[in-house]
Amino acid sequence: MTNFSTIYKLSLVAFSCFIQVYGSSCPVLECWFVQEKTGRGGGLTAATSQEKSLLHIQTEADGGSPEHRQQPPSDINPDRVYYITDPAATLCHASLDPPRGSVQKPQCELNPFLPQPSTLRWSAALTDSALSPIYLQADWFSAALQGLDGQLVLSSIMRAPTATKEPAVVLSVSSTTVSVQSRLGEPTLLDCGFWTDSSSPLSGSGFAVEWRYQFRGDGRLVLAYDGKTDRFAETQEEGAALDFQGLHERGNASLILREAKVRHSGTYICTVYLPYLLAQVAVDLEIVEPPSLSIFPSPLPLAVPGQVVKVQCEASGFAPLSLELSWEFTGADGKSKPLGSGSVTGHRQAWDGTFSQTTTLELDTAKLDLGRGGEVTCVAVHPGGTRRASVTLNVIGFSTPSIEDSMAMVGVALVLYGLIKLVSWTFISSGSDEADKQEKKEK
Ligand SMILES: *[C@@H]1O[C@H](CO)[C@@H](O)[C@H](O)[C@H]1NC(C)=O
Repeated sequence: MTNFSTIYKLSLVAFSCFIQVYGSSCPVLECWFVQEKTGRGGGLTAATSQEKSLLHIQTEADGGSPEHRQQPPSDINPDRVYYITDPAATLCHASLDPPRGSVQKPQCELNPFLPQPSTLRWSAALTDSALSPIYLQADWFSAALQGLDGQLVLSSIMRAPTATKEPAVVLSVSSTTVSVQSRLGEPTLLDCGFWTDSSSPLSGSGFAVEWRYQFRGDGRLVLAYDGKTDRFAETQEEGAALDFQGLHERGNASLILREAKVRHSGTYICTVYLPYLLAQVAVDLEIVEPPSLSIFPSPLPLAVPGQVVKVQCEASGFAPLSLELSWEFTGADGKSKPLGSGSVTGHRQAWDGTFSQTTTLELDTAKLDLGRGGEVTCVAVHPGGTRRASVTLNVIGFSTPSIEDSMAMVGVALVLYGLIKLVSWTFISSGSDEADKQEKKEK
């Protein structure tokens, strides 16, 4: 019995060791520590310095005691080695842990961060609350990370008691939809999740979420929600929403666009505010819609050899504006040949933001070896997919003879020959008859 309990205890110890070592196994992150150079300046762009740094991640505050910490590699300043506590384990995401020897590395940048009262009108209520300024008197950092293969973007705000190099995450915002493609009219989800340390004095007094849209210098507020007063800011955007329950229960601040439109293409920035803090991530949305093709005239009129046939192909309803139009001809033998791009017009934009473009092909039946005709195909290559449309071309009374034609000609020739023979034979024989008669008369 004692044996059994000893084994039991031992295995429990082994198991808890396993949990400590592997259960909270998080990558050690290589990171650039970037800060503005102090003492200089005066220029418009502040000079920055960057140093290699190392981030050890643990999910519990007392995860590793300082005595067990290894020496950092020689190229890293021991002052730039940080022991970060991230209870939400967002920094332990698999995409931040590249396979050994991988050429691709996750990106990481660590900056000093300065807590500041929010200047946004609609979230001003957040900073009303009385705060412990002592809590703010610490070393604050913000970390921005990007996982492998665009699987994750992450931004964390951390607080370390002054000069300890042991920051704890207070706020983190992340997205797993770094780059989204959507078809026109589809409902679209831009992921954004956040976590706040509930033990922080900053997290009890509410949060705010903001989604901003940015495209080529054009920006607008898509949606803003103040969690403290439970109010949405007025915006022009229609059909954009948050999952309310998810937002409050799980920190799910994902933006839901009811119906993707061309004007939605661009960068979206999800910002989460706590009093004095903010963290944000950016995700890209591209609306990709392949074209619809139509050919005029369809069907094509019959063509005679030597005639120039005009065919037009219109590609419409596509986005983005990146399209290659071309023509192909497939003969009766099933062989295809390219006919070039035809003459392509400039693009037009419709009310819904989609584009259209037309190409006209002049088919010279005399120059091209088109036989009796075949399929004329318009090909449109677009990031959303390749589309094709065809019409049938019939060439009649056609110049180079085929086998049937040759046979028919031989047939006709034979019949003609037969007729001539017959006629001449009747003529000659009747002629000789008359000659006979004349001879007889003369006698
Ligand atoms: C967040 O909410 C959206 C909309 O309800 C849902 O589709 C998505 O799966 C949620 N994300 C997470 C991580 O729970």
